[in-house]
Amino acid sequence: MTAIQCSWLIAGCGFCVGFLSTFYLASSVMKVREPHVQEASWKYKNIEIPTISNNDHLSKDLSRKVRVLCWIMTAPANLDTRTIHLKYSWTRHCNIALFMSSVTNESFPTIGLGTKEGRDQLYRKTIRAFQIVHKHYYEKADWFLRADDDTYIVVENLRWMLSNYTPDQPVYFGKRFKPFAEQGYMSGGAGFVLSKEALNRFVEGFQKENCTHTTSLEDIGLGQCMEKMGVIAGDSRDTEQRETFHPFTPDYHIKEGFDKSFWYWRYSYYPIVEASSLMIISKMYGFETLQKLLSFFSPFY
Ligand SMILES: *[C@@H]1O[C@H](CO)[C@@H](O)[C@H](O)[C@H]1NC(C)=O
Ligand SMILES: *[C@@H]1O[C@H](CO)[C@@H](O)[C@H](O)[C@H]1NC(C)=O
Repeated sequence: MTAIQCSWLIAGCGFCVGFLSTFYLASSVMKVREPHVQEASWKYKNIEIPTISNNDHLSKDLSRKVRVLCWIMTAPANLDTRTIHLKYSWTRHCNIALFMSSVTNESFPTIGLGTKEGRDQLYRKTIRAFQIVHKHYYEKADWFLRADDDTYIVVENLRWMLSNYTPDQPVYFGKRFKPFAEQGYMSGGAGFVLSKEALNRFVEGFQKENCTHTTSLEDIGLGQCMEKMGVIAGDSRDTEQRETFHPFTPDYHIKEGFDKSFWYWRYSYYPIVEASSLMIISKMYGFETLQKLLSFFSPFY
């Protein structure tokens, strides 16, 4: 394990402990029963994973009020190596989790989008996926998250942020980049989330041909369509103006000092605050260990 990975693990644990103590404090103030991690009730690859605690009222309450459908962009070749880890970790916290692939796999299961595979198919896959979600799940959720199969999302924190908004507002959130549209666009890598109204307008944009498949660069294409359809690019930074959606691996966001010539400086819509908020999202590629640690130590994961 490299020093960077180590320091991230420590930071990750610090975050868990910090979060736990905040939660304990909140629960004593609010006189709700203390949350406790229950006996492990199932095993995943010989690691015992605690079940989601039944008495964490705050998160339960939020999950009823802020219903999030998560759909994961994946591919047949990734199911057994990457996507399986998402299936058994954070996606369990979404109200609905769907895995979208080029072809249907009934055993995983994945929903087949009827496209080819490859990066040049990304935007087609996304358009198709949102159309399916709109057709079959519109009434079942308020917010619609799209994430990659190497993204890690802390769903409770996402709900917490979203609870400041209502799903009938045409708005979407993610890591906001500056170019290619007046209001910028949300980077695909960090994941992004659409309100119900934003989903509505995106799908309508294609129905009425206000939007078309102009580019295979999914996030840019989607950002431009959103702008055309009057969907606002939202600001999801925390109270100290730190980003909550992170497009790179955690070590990248934690290590000191991005190189000033790095395109990220020019692309970022908001000034880069180098101490990242650990609130929501990180790319987890190669960080399975942390993923499992989080699964183990947090009351929610
Ligand atoms: C379907 O998914 C399972 C994992 O659940 C995988 O082992 C299998 O290879 C997949 N089948 C195809 C045809 O990709
Ligand atoms: C979409 O296209 C229709 C028909 O061309 C037009 O009437 C409508 O104003 C357009 N909507 C937006 C948001 O541009």
